[in-house]
Amino acid sequence: MIVSDLFVGHSDFKAPIQRLLQAGGSEVLDIGCGAGFWSSDMASRYPISYFTGIDIDKNVLPTSSLSKNVLYQRIDLIELPLPYEDATFDYIFIRSMMDTLPDSMWDDVLKELVRIMKKGAYIECVEAYDNLFDAGPIIQSSIKHPPQSPTTPTSAYNTLTSNIPATTSQYNPWPNRIANMSQLIGMQIYHTHTPVGIYGGAIGSLLLEYWERIIKSFRRDWITNKLIAEDELEKTVESMKNEVNEYNTYMSWYSVVAQKKGYSGPTIQFDDVDDFDIVHTHIF
Ligand SMILES: C[S@@+](CC[C@H](N)C(=O)[O-])C[C@H]1O[C@@H](n2cnc3c(N)ncnc32)[C@H](O)[C@@H]1O
Repeated sequence: MIVSDLFVGHSDFKAPIQRLLQAGGSEVLDIGCGAGFWSSDMASRYPISYFTGIDIDKNVLPTSSLSKNVLYQRIDLIELPLPYEDATFDYIFIRSMMDTLPDSMWDDVLKELVRIMKKGAYIECVEAYDNLFDAGPIIQSSIKHPPQSPTTPTSAYNTLTSNIPATTSQYNPWPNRIANMSQLIGMQIYHTHTPVGIYGGAIGSLLLEYWERIIKSFRRDWITNKLIAEDELEKTVESMKNEVNEYNTYMSWYSVVAQKKGYSGPTIQFDDVDDFDIVHTHIF
């Protein structure tokens, strides 16, 4: 499981498209879908809309799908144009992708995504902030002074404490990029906070487990290279685990949502019903 799924929730999204997805027939594109957790979850929640997940890595893409309304394709974002007609999608979702392409490429990719969005379609870009909030002294000092191994890149160590490589902060953040796209309007920014540790319930505890797994994967390298003594490492890990609970440490995500301009068709109004399975629409 990809760590972002633990924190944000598989099918979490902020764009105001829930009712359209329920009404059916909407086309959704999940960019860099990885193992397809978000798409497959969304496809089962919204069985009469269509979901396409694309990723460069055929080893992570699901080979089959339980739902008929989800399709996975091996596509490299760098190879533009993407193989879709103009105005194909009602909603494009991009999560934890910023540092997967060189910063200079994103504007061209965004332009291409706008091309394949329908007028009035939404785009949503979700990214984690690259630091922990309300972190205690041990975690803060680990961030400042990570073990410098000849074989373990520092950015890998940073995933312990920041969840995403430190280099992400060198990228132009999504709000700046979206604001520069003349075809995208009505930008909204949302924040999600995810508590880390036992006080954060099941998700917080899963995050702690994830940390331990990453530390274990670096352990031998650090100890062999005498970057840290084994008992000191054990003690630091235990202290970090206690500290996140003591300080109520949390991480944060931001979601940037915008709409492609130019829609001038009928407005669809949905009755305000509690039971989302029954949706009545009126077209004016
Ligand atoms: C951090 S994961 C995020 C996965 C998923 N969006 C999520 O939130 O769980 C980044 C994904 O981007 C994919 N990726 C990296 N470079 C890519 C490219 N040039 N084209 C398409 N996908 C790419 C990787 O294979 C990986 O699955």
